[in-house]
Amino acid sequence: MEAFRHEALQDVGSTNTECLERARAGDPGNLWITATRQTSGRGRRGRVWTSEPGNLYASLLLINPAPMDRIASLPLAVAVGLQAAVSAVMPRDAEPVEVKWPNDILIGRKKTCGILIEGEGLPDGRHALVIGIGINIRHKPETAPYAVTRLEEHGCFITADELFAHLFREMAVVIKIWDEGRGISDITRRWLNVACGVGEKITVNLPDRSLTGRFDGIAADGLLMLNLGGGQIVPIAAGDVFFERT
Ligand code: BTN
Repeated sequence: MEAFRHEALQDVGSTNTECLERARAGDPGNLWITATRQTSGRGRRGRVWTSEPGNLYASLLLINPAPMDRIASLPLAVAVGLQAAVSAVMPRDAEPVEVKWPNDILIGRKKTCGILIEGEGLPDGRHALVIGIGINIRHKPETAPYAVTRLEEHGCFITADELFAHLFREMAVVIKIWDEGRGISDITRRWLNVACGVGEKITVNLPDRSLTGRFDGIAADGLLMLNLGGGQIVPIAAGDVFFERT
């Protein structure tokens, strides 16, 4: 895998959109784009990602990465790299940095980073994949449908540039492992080591219903294993997780 390049921009609509535009214009990929501020930052489920200067906004463009059947494990690999980058900069006595399925990063059970992965088939037949990462360092949204926090509330005072240097290094390691398809089980193990709520009662909101059960962990392909009792274990590919214990 070629080394990653990095382009630092000031104001953009969205670093994910910037990456997709580069891909359409023929960029070979392995390109990080960071921005000081986003005017149209996007979150999952069509939500707005508020993007004032002081936080980190970064997207990685990959072109024709691993086969599509490996896509389900990409969110886990990204979460592992992001968790490692953030925990490396936290004070020793801070609460642990944990991953929430599939790929939110929490401190004290409050969301502090989000990941938005988008893909697009390009007119020239190539496939673009963009991994967008937002980290609340100095700011957090005033309202959100979940509990939120920022690194400064936990004693971590770092610039977005300094934090990006850690992210760049950690992601290079996990994306290479994921891309080569070797060591995916190591990624799954690392994910479980830092996961929030394993063994606890959780509710998963699916598009058409909610399911409550015990979070038994994840399968090798990244599916969440929800134990409904009576020997019934349901694999879940996508949904919003809510913990009983906050
Ligand atoms: C989420 O809703 O949890 C995902 C948030 C992802 C936000 C990042 S910020 C950098 C990149 N550009 C975007 O527009 N979104 C992602």
